[in-house]
Parts: sequence; C-alpha cells; structure tokens
Amino acid sequence: MTLHHLMLFLHVCGVVVWVGGMAFAWFCLRPAAMQLPPDRRLGLWAAVLRAFFPMVWISIALIVVSGFGMLIETGFARAPLAWHVMLLTGMVMIGVFASIWFGPWRSMQQAVANEDWARAAVAMNTIRQRVGFNLGLGLLTTAIATLGLAF
Ligand code: HEM
Repeated sequence: MTLHHLMLFLHVCGVVVWVGGMAFAWFCLRPAAMQLPPDRRLGLWAAVLRAFFPMVWISIALIVVSGFGMLIETGFARAPLAWHVMLLTGMVMIGVFASIWFGPWRSMQQAVANEDWARAAVAMNTIRQRVGFNLGLGLLTTAIATLGLAF
C-alpha cells in the first residue's frame, strides 16, 4: 500500500459518507418523514441533521486534505483536467454546504427550539433544495472522478 492508496481510501470514505448520507436523506428518509405531522417531522429532521452535519464537516476535511495531497503529489501542472474539474465542483459543493450550515440550518434550529413550525418548515425547504443540488453535483463529481470528462 502506498501513501497515494491511503489518501485515495480516505478521500473515497469521505465521499461515501457525504454523498451516501444525502442520498439516504433524499430518497429514504424524506418520503417516510412526509407521513408525520409537521411538528414531529421537523423535530425528526432537526435531530437527524444535528447528527449528520458534523459528519459532513469531517468528510469535507478528509476529502480536501487527501484531494490536495494527491494533487500535490502528482503536481498541478501534470494532473489531468478531470482532477481540476473535480477540485472546482468539490469546492462548489463545500460552499453550498457552508451556506446551509450558516444560513437555514441556524434558523431551523432556532425555530424548532421555539416551536415555530412555520419558520422551521421554510428553513427545511431551503435545506432540502440545497441538499438536492449537492447530491446531483456529488454524483456528477463522482462521474468526473471515475469516468473522466468523456462520459
Ligand atoms: C475538494 C476538492 C477535491 C480534490 C482536490 C480532489 C482530488 C482528487 C484526486 C487528486 C484524486 C485521485 C485520482 C486518481 O488517483 O485517479 C481523486 C479521486 C477521487 N475523487 Fe476527488 N477531489 C476533490 C473532491 C471530490 C469530491 C467532492 C468527490 C465526490 C463527491 C470526489 C470523488 C472522487 C472519487 C470517487 C475519486 C476516485 C477516482 C478513482 O480512483 O477512479 N472528489 N480526487
């Protein structure tokens, strides 16, 4: 096992947790949670996201450190174009996640604590849209990483 293999392993672990968690939330938890009344549904989402979002920050740290590690190892000038595109789309994903963390996630936590379900629902809707965007971009980034730019 080389250092490159270790970095690739940590990189893909981060991707699995982040993109897999978004896919689970979108395709499995969301349809099931829709059956609950608003107070219980939004309380459930707040508890789920309180556990998931710190895991996303850890995944981001793993992805960025290992991704840059592998890029530096190869050299930016010699790295394939697909790696540069991955860096770009990865940074957009991180920006979108930061916008959720510092924006609607804060309002949602306050609204849930105050039992203001209307405000919590508005914040949750924004979180849902941005997570959906990041899920799509995460799949696209995975396609670019594995298939190159020729898919
Ligand atoms: C944040 C900036 C990122 C940088 C600098 C970066 C850089 C890299 C590099 C240098 C590799 C090694 C490729 C190889 O050895 O063939 C790699 C692999 C990979 N990256 Fe990224 N990456 C980033 C973000 C992401 C994101 C956000 C995803 C997915 C959502 C992703 C998915 C992958 C996958 C699936 C591989 C494995 C490709 C393979 O071995 O075939 N990366 N990345």
